[in-house]
Amino acid sequence: MSDSPHIPVLLDAVLESFSHCSEGYIVDCTLGYAGHSTAILAYRDHLRIVGIDRDEEALAFSRQKLQAYAGRYVLHKGSFAQTITEIREEPIVGILADFGVSSLQLDKKERGFSFESETLDMRMDRGASLTAYDIVNGYGLEQLHYIFRHYGEISQAEKLAEEILRVRTHSPIDSGKTLSDIAKKVLYSGGKIHPATLMFQAIRIEVNDELGQIEGLLDALEEIRPPAAILSLITFHSLEDRLVKNRFKRWSTACICDPHALRCTCGKTHALGKALSRKPIIADTKERVTNPRSRSAKLRSFRFREAE
Ligand SMILES: C[S@@+](CC[C@H](N)C(=O)[O-])C[C@H]1O[C@@H](n2cnc3c(N)ncnc32)[C@H](O)[C@@H]1O
Repeated sequence: MSDSPHIPVLLDAVLESFSHCSEGYIVDCTLGYAGHSTAILAYRDHLRIVGIDRDEEALAFSRQKLQAYAGRYVLHKGSFAQTITEIREEPIVGILADFGVSSLQLDKKERGFSFESETLDMRMDRGASLTAYDIVNGYGLEQLHYIFRHYGEISQAEKLAEEILRVRTHSPIDSGKTLSDIAKKVLYSGGKIHPATLMFQAIRIEVNDELGQIEGLLDALEEIRPPAAILSLITFHSLEDRLVKNRFKRWSTACICDPHALRCTCGKTHALGKALSRKPIIADTKERVTNPRSRSAKLRSFRFREAE
């Protein structure tokens, strides 16, 4: 395997976001190929890593790669929404998540994420039970319509779902190629992106419960509130970014009184911390050219308040 099957996005900005963290652990919720984690260990001597991933292949790669930093990291296999509640390492001074799939997951045809793949799988955790094949061949019209509309924001969602149902009455849809051909036939193909892109995104989100995982992580952090910790989250599409942006807005709000109340009676002490910038950080031109995956990346950071 090459040394870098995945180029970490917004690396400088991520490092910068943790630059004032005191000694302790950064939880890398999406360890992947340890691109961000390796840089944190290399450039921030006082920091350690708790790495989480639900993909055993990514963990095996990173276990090797991180050997040079023995004693400064621990790794966990699991989903970040659950695993974040089980971490015992202290103190947690930062939390990082770089959502979505890695380049290697996308590129490896046998993982079934790509338009050209010979299988329909898309599971980040290969031990999970639901696959893309189950969805494409087993979901009813309404379920397919729902995921295409809500997770793909596809305007012709219903037409696409109907065509899938029609095709699969003849024989099961069992490859990325057959599925992407259906999208090409039904959806407008004059835009900048391949017509199947949003359909594949929608199915992947459903297979891996990606939005539920982000909400679960945010819910868990709302409970844990690690004092003074920096939370840096990288999203790749508007559905993810909306969840993060809205939660940071709520967490930054000090007053929880009814907006129609004549005056505040809550004491204005309810903010959990502060969003570090109003606008997200995005990739500069150089990064957008060298790493196309960075083009849709948005980094938002939040600082939890100190312990009382
Ligand atoms: C974009 S890659 C991260 C790349 C990493 N930052 C790097 O620089 O190598 C996302 C990784 O997060 C993992 N992942 C995505 N959602 C997850 C979840 N809910 N729980 C645990 N791991 C998850 C994926 O398996 C994938 O390896």
